Amino acid sequence: MANNEFGTQFFDEITLTTFDGKAWSETVFKPSDSLPLHPATHALHYGSSCFEGLKAFRADNGDVYVFRLDDHIKRMQNSAKGLYLPVPDAEQLKAMIVDLLAKYREQVPAFPNSAYIRPTLFGTDKAIGRAAEPAETSMLFVLISPVGDYFSPENKLRVLMNTEDLRCSPHIGSIKSGGNYASALSLVMRAAEKYQAQQVIFAPHGDVQETAAANCLLINDNEVLTKGLTSEFLPGITRDSLLKVAKSLGYKISERDISADELIEWSKDGEIALSGTAAVLAPVGEVVYQDKVYTVNQGKDANNTMRLRKALNDIQRGATDDKFGWITVVK
Ligand SMILES: Cc1ncc(COP(=O)(O)O)c(C=O)c1O
Repeated sequence: MANNEFGTQFFDEITLTTFDGKAWSETVFKPSDSLPLHPATHALHYGSSCFEGLKAFRADNGDVYVFRLDDHIKRMQNSAKGLYLPVPDAEQLKAMIVDLLAKYREQVPAFPNSAYIRPTLFGTDKAIGRAAEPAETSMLFVLISPVGDYFSPENKLRVLMNTEDLRCSPHIGSIKSGGNYASALSLVMRAAEKYQAQQVIFAPHGDVQETAAANCLLINDNEVLTKGLTSEFLPGITRDSLLKVAKSLGYKISERDISADELIEWSKDGEIALSGTAAVLAPVGEVVYQDKVYTVNQGKDANNTMRLRKALNDIQRGATDDKFGWITVVK
């Protein structure tokens, strides 16, 4: 499945609930091919929407495993708070995901493919005069898409390091809201057009943060280095998982600021990789910086990146012990 096909096929139904200003309704199953909305829907005008992205895997024994379900729900609750949207009930959202997976378990593809789960929350007030007010009513649905790799790990990525622009406004960077992706889009498009770069590493004033859709890790035989969490960028659950897996494999974990110059220095004999639910851990092959192209790690195989990627995938699909307690089994 190619990158641009990722997320274009769907389970036949979604699960859905609405908030009427007081309480969430009972969850219902609805066909996934349409969602009638009033043209004045708050989210369509003022971007009052947030979402999550997590994966379920078919284990070798046929069971369906959801990866870090509770952590994704917590992050969605945090996003809802940041947008002054009604906060989803954790137990209800969990059941919306698990029950949908249980009903359509035969549509969860076998590894290396997976089911990409997209809980989405948005303000539904029918009001086009509330630019500076939150939505009081909302809708929450769970959409699931059978997917393959977002980035093929065999084709290393070319990324542009941009030290001039912000991905999004810093106070909202740790929230998974559509507006942040809209904010980054023209910069990503410009990098693609001018440098044929597939991603942009945002490093405002030389402070290496993340790309438009993934976190950034520097990796070598001994160490995994990444920026410590701030409210300015997304606290990736894959990032957190990889740091824990790498630590258990004996790597030194460093979470600290990284300058743009240090990243270029690292690229001479270290690996650079992008981490995310969709990306997993995708090796970077070239960094474009100040109109120069730097080949990462002299073009050698990204052995540490692939080792960590496999170690994470092995937990996700149940090929190794779930020693961190990250898996929810769909009964
Ligand atoms: C901007 C951004 N940063 C980082 C990530 C990685 O987050 P996670 O590992 O939780 O998927 C994502 C999502 O995939 C993202 O959209």
